[in-house]
Amino acid sequence: MKLKIAIFLSGSGSNARAICAYFQKHAEIEVALLLSNKVNSGAQSIGNDFGIPYLIFSRDAFYNSDNIISKLAQLKIDILILAGFLWLIPEYLLDAYPDRILNIHPALLPKYGGKGMHGMHVHEAVWKNKESESGITIHLCNKEYDKGRILFQATTKINADDTPNDIAKNVLMLEHRHYPETIEKYLLSL
Ligand code: GAR
Repeated sequence: MKLKIAIFLSGSGSNARAICAYFQKHAEIEVALLLSNKVNSGAQSIGNDFGIPYLIFSRDAFYNSDNIISKLAQLKIDILILAGFLWLIPEYLLDAYPDRILNIHPALLPKYGGKGMHGMHVHEAVWKNKESESGITIHLCNKEYDKGRILFQATTKINADDTPNDIAKNVLMLEHRHYPETIEKYLLSL
């Protein structure tokens, strides 16, 4: 039986899409479920395009019910992948998936992390501080935002005339290139 991934997303889902494409014909790993807290995220269209089931859930279901964990257990999900998912992971999921929840952050942690630091907020902060480089961090999740063990980082140069949008574009390219491979490597090493 293949190892099974569930992806959580809140946004357009370009990372989720890249991960689904990467594992589409993989011999040992498959994406078995997409989960989102947003009706208008990419979950539905990615699910339809790749033939993967998706689940949209409310804040109450996520924090105060066993709907999510039941679904994950029913599908025998091995690992949870956060791809632009913005809610803090509750303790019951951390306990059920110890060292098996990965997140991607669009900057070089430990800088530019923490609550409220997501998406363009991160790139604007990096730009305001006139950093000469930014990058991506793939890390395990724990009880705090962006604090778990770092598994992988990659950098991209920032030119003097780059805008926050330029930084965002370059960082997203790095994410699509490295997240699927890092997930594969980590999962096969467990
Ligand atoms: C990605 O850049 C991801 O790193 C970021 O949200 C974006 C989602 O894009 N995540 C965070 O900022 C988490 N703190 P996508 O929906 O196109 O994959």
